Amino acid sequence: MTARKPLVAGNWKMNGDIVSNEQLFTALRADLGRASLSQVEVVVCPPYPYLGQAAAWLGDTGIAWGAQDVSTQPNGAYTGDVSAAMLVDLGCQWAIVGHSERRQLAGETDQQVAAKVSMCMTRGVGVIACIGETLEERESGHTEAVLGRQVDAIAAALVDPAHPLPPGRVVLAYEPVWAIGTGRTASPEIAQAAHRFVRERLAQRGYGHAGATRILYGGSVKPGNAASLFAMADVDGGLIGGASLVADDFLAICRAAAVA
Ligand code: PGA
Repeated sequence: MTARKPLVAGNWKMNGDIVSNEQLFTALRADLGRASLSQVEVVVCPPYPYLGQAAAWLGDTGIAWGAQDVSTQPNGAYTGDVSAAMLVDLGCQWAIVGHSERRQLAGETDQQVAAKVSMCMTRGVGVIACIGETLEERESGHTEAVLGRQVDAIAAALVDPAHPLPPGRVVLAYEPVWAIGTGRTASPEIAQAAHRFVRERLAQRGYGHAGATRILYGGSVKPGNAASLFAMADVDGGLIGGASLVADDFLAICRAAAVA
């Protein structure tokens, strides 16, 4: 079995300001000496305007920073978009793509998500590609059909030989939509079944590093449930929303991943 270093990413969503971010960064820095964070890869993803602030506060720590989205286009007349090249300029090592809030609120399609994966590959930005079914899709028995469709689009981008990302830079995040921000977490068994399915699907679609790809669970992860989720064989860490805004909670989740 391939060893996969756990990864915990904080998705701040559209939260924060210069002052509160500074407090959060200070707490993360202060904990570095104490925590066994060498056993876990930690990434924080603030809103675009604060990526420079993240660089200033985290540049000399082991904590990486990333963006919450990236354009499907390399440059040009795309008002409001931010390119993968710009992320590299800001020291971003990661970008979240295909988050369900973007799929639902901005109408992002599987093809657009795949195009964003390709853009990251072109520029060497690590990808955290999100997938997940709605409650309606789960209850009507369509979970695997939905996940399969979403994974297929991502895999089609990943197998492009022109700009391969090293396997450690390709991360998927299984985030059941019904668990995001609801306080309702998938059970470890439900998460494990979905993660196993996703890993097998990646391999079936010709992605040669499926065994080395980290698959994060996301959706109401808290200090109290993180350890049981991370204990599952195919759960390689978490994508954390609400709890990533509370330094103690986020650090507790990072530590749970480090010992998993
Ligand atoms: P949550 O969000 O932890 O607040 O449920 C997770 C996410 O949307 O990435």
